[in-house]
Amino acid sequence: MINQTLTQSDLYFDVLVIGSGAAGLSMALRLPATVQIAMLAKGTMDEGNTLYAQGGISAVLDATDSVDNHVQDTLIAGAGLCDSEVVRLIVQQGPANIHWLLEQGVQFTKAEVEDGAANAFGYHLTREGGHSRRRVVHAADATGRAIETTLLDMVKTRPNIQLFPEHIAVDLITARHLGAKESKCYGAYVLDKNNSKVVTWSAQFTVLASGGASKVYLYTTNPDVATGDGIAMAWRAGCRVANMEFMQFHPTCLYHPHAKNFLITEAVRGEGGILLLPDGQRFMPRFDPRAELAPRDIVARAIDHEMKRLGAECVYLDISHRPSDFIREHFPTVHSKCLEFGIDITQQPIPVVPAAHYTCGGVVTDYSARTDLDNLYAIGEVAYTGLHGANRMASNSLLECLVMATRAAGDVEGCLSKQLDMPAIPDWDESRVTDSDEEIVVAHNWDELRRLMWDYVGIVRSNKRLARAQRRIDILRREIIEYYGNFRVTSDLLELRNLVEVADLIVTSALRRRESRGLHYTLDFPNLDRHQQRLTELIPDTYIPKL
Ligand code: FAD
Ligand code: SIN
Repeated sequence: MINQTLTQSDLYFDVLVIGSGAAGLSMALRLPATVQIAMLAKGTMDEGNTLYAQGGISAVLDATDSVDNHVQDTLIAGAGLCDSEVVRLIVQQGPANIHWLLEQGVQFTKAEVEDGAANAFGYHLTREGGHSRRRVVHAADATGRAIETTLLDMVKTRPNIQLFPEHIAVDLITARHLGAKESKCYGAYVLDKNNSKVVTWSAQFTVLASGGASKVYLYTTNPDVATGDGIAMAWRAGCRVANMEFMQFHPTCLYHPHAKNFLITEAVRGEGGILLLPDGQRFMPRFDPRAELAPRDIVARAIDHEMKRLGAECVYLDISHRPSDFIREHFPTVHSKCLEFGIDITQQPIPVVPAAHYTCGGVVTDYSARTDLDNLYAIGEVAYTGLHGANRMASNSLLECLVMATRAAGDVEGCLSKQLDMPAIPDWDESRVTDSDEEIVVAHNWDELRRLMWDYVGIVRSNKRLARAQRRIDILRREIIEYYGNFRVTSDLLELRNLVEVADLIVTSALRRRESRGLHYTLDFPNLDRHQQRLTELIPDTYIPKL
């Protein structure tokens, strides 16, 4: 049920879900129909990374595959930093979650006997980097759209779930807002973009399902909402954040002056696509025996290296040797989008460049998605569970969204029966702020931050570049905090405040890791150091250890 007209007295829910992607929608649907749920989205309910996911979801669905194989591939991609127990737990629960999606009505692509990928499961399984087997179930090349629209339609049929588009959470409400010294969350302050008012939303349980932070980089595959709000809010509220240096760059984003953020799915390489230099030479076999199907960090770095070596603006991805019908059937979205730009992928190679894609680190959670604050959960891309380690394997993230949402829902359900006395929460105080006199500050700082992150904290790093980034982030941070203290909040200002926080967490983490591992590559420490095989955990000043 879409709802935009609640008054202040209505704003108490059993569960407040911040975010309506695969993680938030699954969580809401997994909770019993007796639980009163509010679900927020910054823009329209369907906008977020989930909607744009192309390749698919990995799970062990074929008799020739096994949980051990999937676990092993994930651990290898994660370069020694995955939590192997979490990996096994998530991989084991994969098949049941895919069956749940089928029950909800998600239409995955069926296997055709003649294309050589038939299996007893009956659905086509594609391959992507790092996977030693075909295990990625998909809806052609628009898997995320199929999942998002199907789950959102299901949620709309549930009277216990109220949807609030155009509502942006500003900060979590914690015991500190009440003058108490305990680690508990009571909901969130939320800006209603329809009337520019910030209102108190209290809930027995709050769930961060707010996605990743790749908008911190100038070039990204992510839509505009991916500004790391959940990570920044949790950090300010006292939650630990881990592994933020591991920002994943997808190797193949369409390179065209008019194409904003368009991904060319890794499944194109999975189905035989090869990467070429501008002179038509294949180069990946020089970098890794797995060639185009090496894990993403390796492919992105190889492309970056070759582009810098040759001064090339892009490299090329060629699938035109496969039959045209196969290409059109498996990659209809990529095919038609490229045609819009005059590129016929059945006949010619696609110009591609790497772009920021996925946030491997995030808010530290346990196996039930609980964070450091009582009654606060984090699921999906916002969270750090230990699954991805130093590099996420393709298509493991939607899997993580589904499994962790299911686990979080189970945990919340078990605790709901306990009656919670909700304390009186102070209203949002606007008595000392005015309307902004210079919006240009926000626009300028947005651009500056994202460009400096791209230039100094990208695929290849160095101590000097990171230190330069840190100095500039410090200045921007001070300016933004001062601005936030003086002026009424807008969504652009809130996002900028979160982005600068996230940028700081990324650079701080990157400076701490004095080795190259997975997605973190630095010229000063080009080798892996086995003594540094541990996560980078940052602890905020506001952290209160649990007893
Ligand atoms: P999202 O789907 O990003 O949803 C975030 C939600 O949070 C949105 O509703 C947003 O409005 C809301 N939100 C954010 N901040 C606030 C706030 N302050 N207040 C209120 N609401 C807020 N993964 C795979 O496994 N397989 C793939 O094939 C794949 N392909 C991808 C292709 C692309 C182009 C991209 C960008 C990602 C891809 N990924 C893929 C990654 C995967 O899509 C994401 O990791 C996953 O969808 C994240 O889901 P989520 O529910 O955590 O967040
Ligand atoms: C893709 O389709 O290449 C994206 C897959 C992913 O990010 O998991």
